Amino acid sequence: MSESRKADHLALCATAAVGFRDTTTLLEEVGLVHEALPELSLDQVDLSTSLLRHPLGAPLVLSAMTGGVDEAEPLNRALARVAQEFGLALGFGSMRPLLERGDRRGYLVRDQAPDAMLLGNLGVVQARKIGLGQLQDALGETGCDALCVHLNPAMEVVQPEGDRDFRGGIEAIARMVSGLDVPVIVKETGSGLSRATAERLVRVGVRAVDVSGAGGTSWVGVEALRADATRALGERFWDWGIPTAASLAQLTDLELEVIATGGVSHGIDVARALALGATAGGMARAVLQAWTAGGEAAVRALVVQTLREIRVAMLLTGAGSVAAMRRTTVVIGPNLMRWVPPGVSLRQRLAAGPR
Ligand SMILES: Cc1cc2nc3c(=O)[nH]c(=O)nc-3n(C[C@H](O)[C@H](O)[C@H](O)COP(=O)(O)O)c2cc1C
Repeated sequence: MSESRKADHLALCATAAVGFRDTTTLLEEVGLVHEALPELSLDQVDLSTSLLRHPLGAPLVLSAMTGGVDEAEPLNRALARVAQEFGLALGFGSMRPLLERGDRRGYLVRDQAPDAMLLGNLGVVQARKIGLGQLQDALGETGCDALCVHLNPAMEVVQPEGDRDFRGGIEAIARMVSGLDVPVIVKETGSGLSRATAERLVRVGVRAVDVSGAGGTSWVGVEALRADATRALGERFWDWGIPTAASLAQLTDLELEVIATGGVSHGIDVARALALGATAGGMARAVLQAWTAGGEAAVRALVVQTLREIRVAMLLTGAGSVAAMRRTTVVIGPNLMRWVPPGVSLRQRLAAGPR
């Protein structure tokens, strides 16, 4: 069941209309202020950064998609080569097939990416039951530098065979944070993280999250297209979630490194996410679509173009480094402003409007 579900997900995300319908990322409400006298040379703009102390050549993550199906093997190996070439982080899809059936398809890519940051992946629902030793072995075998624990209650409740009981999630995360050799990144899957959720994660020792906000791929939408039994429910909740930029704004000033996925499809959006305090941007479906259209060459072209756009956006805001981009002055539109908590440092960086 899980294998055919994974194959359905890939097919639907590659070709079907599974984007949010009315909810946007709100990244379009982040204005970067043009600097007409940058006093930088384009080549000098430094894209290098780090995530959980792991060096990255650029602030970009190829986000979790697949593993445990035939298609995962060529896709993840190609993504690993691209991640290696540009110093990006690469996320595996859920490692449930590996943990439950010993299915290694798509997870053994270390030979293609000796230095890239590799992110393991497991749903919090599975994480509740798994033995730490078994999980640690899987992370070791695949050479993962961190484990992404994904949260997806909206998707699960719309999946006919999905989980309905989400109790014990925070305890499971706490157990992994204290028991694993690698750091844990908690990620949503398209519905975003609120400040209150993130504060609970900080309290159990989580140091990095991926907001995976609303406005990109709707996983409720993907499930709605898969299932007649829950189609009406999925249609109703299709646009559910906290927009990506709103989630970033919510998390301002918490002791967290933040990855911004959810509808990030070009370099200006990555630059906007950095300006809201993100450590890096991330893309999933755009990468899959590039792969479907033109294989590894198209994925590489997407990455080259995205990095070029980040570099130009940084130059044109006068930011010579990722750290400088994260401190830049911004203009925030009214719909996004409603999500910015009172008293956070982001308000001190507003070019105009309420502080
Ligand atoms: C085909 C596909 C499969 C995915 N599988 C997983 C997964 O197994 N685990 C996970 O945490 N997220 C998974 N995601 C979610 C992405 O990592 C990402 O958080 C989300 O799709 C939002 O980013 P996007 O708008 O760029 O697609 C998947 C996304 C896609 C497109």
